[in-house]
Amino acid sequence: MAHIAILTGGGDCPGLNAVIRAVVRRADGHGHTVIGFRNGWAGALEGDAVELTPQSTAGILPRGGTILGTSRTNPYAEPDGGERVRRTLGVEHVEALIAIGGEDTLGVARRLGGEGVNVIGVPKTIDNDLNGTDFTFGFQTAVQIATDAIDRLHTTAESHHRVIVLEVMGRHTGWIATYSGMAGGADAILVPERPFDIDEVCDRLRRRHAAGRTFSIVVVAEGAQPAQGGGLTVSKVGSTDQFGHTRLGGIAVTLEGEIERRTGFESRMTILGHVQRGGTPTAYDRVLATRFGVAAVDAVTRGDFGRMVALHGSAIVPVELDEALREPKLLDPELYETAEVFFG
Ligand code: F6P
Repeated sequence: MAHIAILTGGGDCPGLNAVIRAVVRRADGHGHTVIGFRNGWAGALEGDAVELTPQSTAGILPRGGTILGTSRTNPYAEPDGGERVRRTLGVEHVEALIAIGGEDTLGVARRLGGEGVNVIGVPKTIDNDLNGTDFTFGFQTAVQIATDAIDRLHTTAESHHRVIVLEVMGRHTGWIATYSGMAGGADAILVPERPFDIDEVCDRLRRRHAAGRTFSIVVVAEGAQPAQGGGLTVSKVGSTDQFGHTRLGGIAVTLEGEIERRTGFESRMTILGHVQRGGTPTAYDRVLATRFGVAAVDAVTRGDFGRMVALHGSAIVPVELDEALREPKLLDPELYETAEVFFG
């Protein structure tokens, strides 16, 4: 029997509540007790915790967001942050900590693990950029939302004979852009892993229109960058968080203007933003999140710490947190080459 704490850190993500429910239910079945820290690492720093029971977590499976709240707080941004978290764990008599998050949240978990805390990670992010797992939960839902958006944008693009640029999230990877672009039949997909040449993009659109099509859809990942010397500059907008990440977004504004100026085709852009992280998770993500939650508690029961539960093929397996956090998982080049077959 163990007293387990869980927390959800970083951006909210469809499926977080499904993991919380699964952890609590499996823990209950194994005779463990569970508390949740509110607002990610902020709750662990401040000792802000709530008891979680099968009753208090009933009915949350299909709900988006996280009942625990989240934040981008980095305890190690403060000199005594690690010590304060460990103190909270001591005060709360926590024997195992399940951290649900992406590279930042899991990076903190790994560091705490190095300081003697029993940690287990659960891979969450719509970006799908974590190594060690084939997929993170939340990604599939974001892809579905973006695909629905492309389907809807198609009708306006077609009716008005426009180029429509859709900007999707993904941080420094093009997973969401490529999957949704492929599913939605995009005519060009621009991703961070392949700096783009704006002249080439415009040529492609011109060729398509010369061949009789009167509209085009361009999907661009928020982190996409023009190739050096391509005559296009994109200004960085946002502020920087406690993990050193700059807020991305807005490249679609530049592209809308440049495409219209260079081709003469009327252009519009849509930035999908947090719509991609909102609402109810798809069935796939509910199942994946549930399997991750159950596997995380099973790891606690075995005493198998310092690991992240991961999807390998169709199996859930534990992997070292070190492996998961080695570097961001970039887009599979073969996938992008398949998408390219349908460009222009
Ligand atoms: O990591 C998930 C994500 O949605 C990224 O795709 C995006 O760049 C970032 O979070 C946005 O963060 P915030 O919600 O803090 O603006």
